[in-house]
Amino acid sequence: MENLLNFKNIDKENLEKIIENILSINLKTLNQIDSITLLQFNESSTRTRLSFNVAAQLLGLKVLENQDAISARVKGEILDHEIDTYKSLGVETLVVRTKENNIVDYENFEDFSVISGGFGNSSHPTQALIDISTLIKFDKLSYEIPITYVGDLKHSRVFSSGRELLTKLGYKVGVLTNKDLLPDNLDNLHIFNSWEEVIKYSGSVELLRIQKERLKNLDGFDFENFINNFQLNNEILETAEKDFIVMHPMPINIGIEIDKEALNNNRFIYKEQLKLATKTRVVSYQFAYGEI
Ligand code: CP
Repeated sequence: MENLLNFKNIDKENLEKIIENILSINLKTLNQIDSITLLQFNESSTRTRLSFNVAAQLLGLKVLENQDAISARVKGEILDHEIDTYKSLGVETLVVRTKENNIVDYENFEDFSVISGGFGNSSHPTQALIDISTLIKFDKLSYEIPITYVGDLKHSRVFSSGRELLTKLGYKVGVLTNKDLLPDNLDNLHIFNSWEEVIKYSGSVELLRIQKERLKNLDGFDFENFINNFQLNNEILETAEKDFIVMHPMPINIGIEIDKEALNNNRFIYKEQLKLATKTRVVSYQFAYGEI
């Protein structure tokens, strides 16, 4: 069994194989896996939770769901005892979404695989796999031109995992945001100062939601300033090349990171990302079960 908590334990060759499989998999001809998976989502989710569920069903996995709020965790049960219980029930894979950055706690369970459905601001590897596969589909990956993330980088697990994956594969990562929303670690990032620069030097962007639930000083956050300087709108998009693409992991704050009118711009391709959600989760399970 393999963990998919981040990309630390997966070498470049295997990452390329995973991405290739996401882009080529036929969901109608899957080998079935006779096992049980448990989805433990302790934070809200629509896309990740449901696509892991659909992917599991397509693979013939039985699906259980649990949450801290309705489990013995509320009585103080420790993680080790929780996992022992899951294993005794026949569960072999656990998909976790949590506000905590405690990946390390999940790294070393034997004969048991943990897949990140989103840890704190540190990991969302399957979203990163969706995004890079989308970039490949649109022929937007190049070793020279950065893929640029715009918005709330500081609190974004999509950015953390996207950056980790792109960097590991040798691609450049750009960022555009205000100084309060930059990540602590700026190593190897191309920091852009305006949309003009991004449009000139980048072929694709991923917009990121301002995470109101994670901002320490929400009342003090200057939304007007953010919108004036970093919001994407049709006027900006008109200055871009025809093949410039805009991604967003969703959910979206309409009117904050993107203007309402720009939602219908044909460069905004979030539906293409959605098309890869189930395929990515199927391949993630196959990786976890050692089938890749
Ligand atoms: N992109 C993403 O993680 O969406 P959900 O929060 O709906 O799962």
